[in-house]
Amino acid sequence: MPDAEKAPPVEAHQVPFREDSHRIVTGMVLSNDPAGVRAQYANEARLSTRSSVWRGTRDGRQPQDVAADAIARARPQRLLEVGCGTGAFAERLATENCNAVVVAIDRSPRLVELTAARGIDAHVADVMALPFADAGFDVVVAMWMLYHVPDLHQGLAEIRRVLRPNGALVAATNGDEHLTELLTEAGGAPLITQFSTENGSEALHRHFDHVSQTELATQAVFCDHAQASAYLATFDDTLAASLPHFDGPREYAGATSVFVAR
Ligand SMILES: C[S@@+](CC[C@H](N)C(=O)[O-])C[C@H]1O[C@@H](n2cnc3c(N)ncnc32)[C@H](O)[C@@H]1O
Repeated sequence: MPDAEKAPPVEAHQVPFREDSHRIVTGMVLSNDPAGVRAQYANEARLSTRSSVWRGTRDGRQPQDVAADAIARARPQRLLEVGCGTGAFAERLATENCNAVVVAIDRSPRLVELTAARGIDAHVADVMALPFADAGFDVVVAMWMLYHVPDLHQGLAEIRRVLRPNGALVAATNGDEHLTELLTEAGGAPLITQFSTENGSEALHRHFDHVSQTELATQAVFCDHAQASAYLATFDDTLAASLPHFDGPREYAGATSVFVAR
């Protein structure tokens, strides 16, 4: 990966750290620093490296399935995904909700290009200033992106504005325990964010009357040490280099929540 694409370091105060960790995780992936987030998603490489290791829960539940089921139950005619990444989920939603118009936005031009290549009506835009009229969507979807928004409540207010009355926001995010064991083994600290399993409901209640939450104990499966190290390198080279060697495959626990807010 060329140095020019590396995310710049984040100031230490952005990420809380634990007394017992010998170094602060830079927190680049989950930070809401605009320059860092822009660099992180300049292309699909880091996102694809991370996405590839995730499995569902031990009983086979996937966060994407939980979100897709909630969306289908809302029977949307018009559906907006914010922070669509490579567009895989938008494409799935277009297939599964065949009567719905699916629109997607992302801050990253490259990721919008990939989403448009899947046949989705995709635009470069910021969730904090959505280029859409009031009350134009039945459902807004935000998968693992609200922790990146510089002003979370501006983003949530915009989502509320473009939703029709009683429209639904479906949002996925991670909890404070997400990959904690992997991070601490590498000498880092848990990734604490502004929109998580722990604090997401409270944030949503400022904009929506009803909020439900489904927690999922997901699993990351790494074929070997090199894959686990490559995962860490997508946001912190030093951390990646510090992961003690292990032989064979290894699983680490994730912690994800899917919220539905109306
Ligand atoms: C962790 S990725 C998740 C991508 C996709 N939703 C998924 O689940 O694979 C976060 C995405 O949010 C986008 N993003 C970050 N901040 C944003 C903002 N303020 N407005 C719109 N998109 C944003 C990033 O460019 C990136 O594509």
